[in-house]
Amino acid sequence: MATFYGFLVGLAIVFLACSPSSSAVHFVLIHGSGHGAWCWYKLATLLEQAGHKVAAVDLAYSGRNQVPLEFVHTFDEYHKPLFKYLESLSPKDKVVLVGHSYGGYGVSSGLERFPEKVLGGVFASAFMVGPNFTLEDTNKFLPRPDQVDDSFVIGDPIRIVLFGPHFAATMLYQNSPPEDLKLANYSIRLTQIFRGDLANREIRVTKERFGTVPRAYVAGLEDKIITPDVQRAMIKSTPPQVVREIEGADHMIMFSKPQEFANNLIEIAESFELFGLGGRPHGYAF
Ligand SMILES: *[C@@H]1O[C@H](CO)[C@@H](O)[C@H](O)[C@H]1NC(C)=O
Ligand SMILES: *[C@@H]1O[C@H](CO)[C@@H](O)[C@H](O)[C@H]1NC(C)=O
Repeated sequence: MATFYGFLVGLAIVFLACSPSSSAVHFVLIHGSGHGAWCWYKLATLLEQAGHKVAAVDLAYSGRNQVPLEFVHTFDEYHKPLFKYLESLSPKDKVVLVGHSYGGYGVSSGLERFPEKVLGGVFASAFMVGPNFTLEDTNKFLPRPDQVDDSFVIGDPIRIVLFGPHFAATMLYQNSPPEDLKLANYSIRLTQIFRGDLANREIRVTKERFGTVPRAYVAGLEDKIITPDVQRAMIKSTPPQVVREIEGADHMIMFSKPQEFANNLIEIAESFELFGLGGRPHGYAF
């Protein structure tokens, strides 16, 4: 199966490379925990320079989003800015959703709620739930409280985490330029980890919706948080149609390998367009 898809994607790339003009893709970029739209500044520039359209969202209490942390206790509240953006799109405007790290839950939710608006979903060193791989499973791979610089529980219980300078330098940004680590130091905010029954329900995916949209996984091979083993487990459980690996990429793939990441995204989007042309008789995910 994987080989067959690999062949199809190869064909797609050859086909598109030979065609005189491929159309502009509309990418929607979803940041990970503690981060914001700011983390995409390099990748967004590269994609735009290649002629594509890019929207990077700030999720609730992230980046420049003004919603207070105490109003962000569920995945749906956290993902609201993304849902609003997708709702605002015209029916003709299909997007490629790209989620990094915890932003993978945004991709899953976006595919499940707006399958008709999404050309394909890309999980970049991201958590990818599937019908047989739930939030409980992915939560096992979150950094432990003693690994991050700060982690505390409030309320019932709600876990708040800070990816401070030590954790960022050693576990997230170890291959990235020091300027980007400095940007993170100035920009990272507290973040919430969602768990429990409600969170599980909010990101549940179905064959009828999520399962009709093609997906890709982009794996950073030097990722210390969502390690290659964890990436492979998620890929095996809910196989995406395209898998790409980027050598030398740390967890912050958009900082450590921006050009390779951009090139891969453009090729992946081209293969999504081809899958779209081919129809989806059997669905994809199951
Ligand atoms: C789903 O997970 C269960 C338990 O891990 C396993 O026994 C089963 O084979 C899995 N099904 C698929 C389709 O992967
Ligand atoms: C930024 O660095 C300073 C100095 O090391 C530190 O006190 C602060 O917690 C850091 N902030 C973040 C978000 O990493």
